[in-house]
Amino acid sequence: MGKAVPKNILTNSDLEKMVDTTDEWIKTRTGIVERRIARDDETTLDLAYEASLEALSAAGVSAEDLDLIIVATVTPDMVFPATACMLQEKIGARKAGAFDLEAGCSGFVYGMIVADQFIRTGVYEKILVVGAETLSKITDWQDRNTCVLFGDGAGAAVMGPVKKGGMLSFDMGSDGSGGKCLDMPAGGSLMPATHETVEKRLHYVRMDGNQVFKFAVKVMGKTALEALKKAELGTEDIDLLIPHQANIRIIESSAKRLKLPDEKVFVNLEKYGNTSSASIPIALYEAKEQNLLKNDQIIVLVGFGAGLTWGAAVLHWIEGES
Ligand code: UT7
Repeated sequence: MGKAVPKNILTNSDLEKMVDTTDEWIKTRTGIVERRIARDDETTLDLAYEASLEALSAAGVSAEDLDLIIVATVTPDMVFPATACMLQEKIGARKAGAFDLEAGCSGFVYGMIVADQFIRTGVYEKILVVGAETLSKITDWQDRNTCVLFGDGAGAAVMGPVKKGGMLSFDMGSDGSGGKCLDMPAGGSLMPATHETVEKRLHYVRMDGNQVFKFAVKVMGKTALEALKKAELGTEDIDLLIPHQANIRIIESSAKRLKLPDEKVFVNLEKYGNTSSASIPIALYEAKEQNLLKNDQIIVLVGFGAGLTWGAAVLHWIEGES
């Protein structure tokens, strides 16, 4: 695995100077204390590149041996070509296919599930899955409802066949009827960029926080349970839950539904805010870094996001297996 976050830190007190908010409100309503913000000249590709190099090196895999690259993102460098193709060129993955995957904050889990299918069928052996975002570039810094929530970053993992362990099961779903709860209205074929769309601030994230909140607390426990059921496991088998890092209250409520004690739930959102598709791979990376992923454990990844989408993956963690 690999991780990359911008150096620049934006704290809650910095935000107090930008919009009508307080450190107290942000901490109690979301759990976020600070987030990383990309420089003007730093892009999603830059973060994806840094995380990917670390993941390749940790896995002992050469970019030239990669069969496929999947980049999960809602903030690609350009609408097209795909950021995955830019990454393919930058790391020199000559024989790899490459595409972007857009499933909001569930993107990395979706990406892992897709990669798992290619590996399971024996078609591909080495797949690079990346979750990378620069949400700061599509954040309305005048909107206190959203600008306090997001941050930038990237996480990457090299996936391949294993003799023992790996992804035991997954669940994924979507509900397009909730799409308008969380979107970026302009810039697509529905509303191409015009002076008017820019003036109306339609090229920024727009969110009905309450609706997304209600959806998230309902779906996170449900999708985790579905995935566990497919692996013939129960919540008591979970050693560590790695949830999408959007809001501490959402995480706590999902943990309660799954009857998990605090020590079985990984949280790092106080440092990074919501980094969308990068949040789960960064959390997984840091859980490993903190020695929380132990041999023979059951790790459950669970995400939700724009679309609306959700997804969970049950991993049987075997150290040193390949
Ligand atoms: O990855 C998926 C993406 N999104 C999410 O996961 C977000 C899910 N939603 C949330 O996390 C929460 O709904 C929020 C953190 C966005 C909001 O928390 P809430 O407890 O649902 O608050 P609210 O929207 O009900 O707002 C309560 C009040 C409102 O004032 P009034 O109308 O009661 O006077 C807001 O205007 O808080 C106000 N408010 C703020 N006050 C200070 C909203 N944002 C801020 C702010 N600072 N930054």
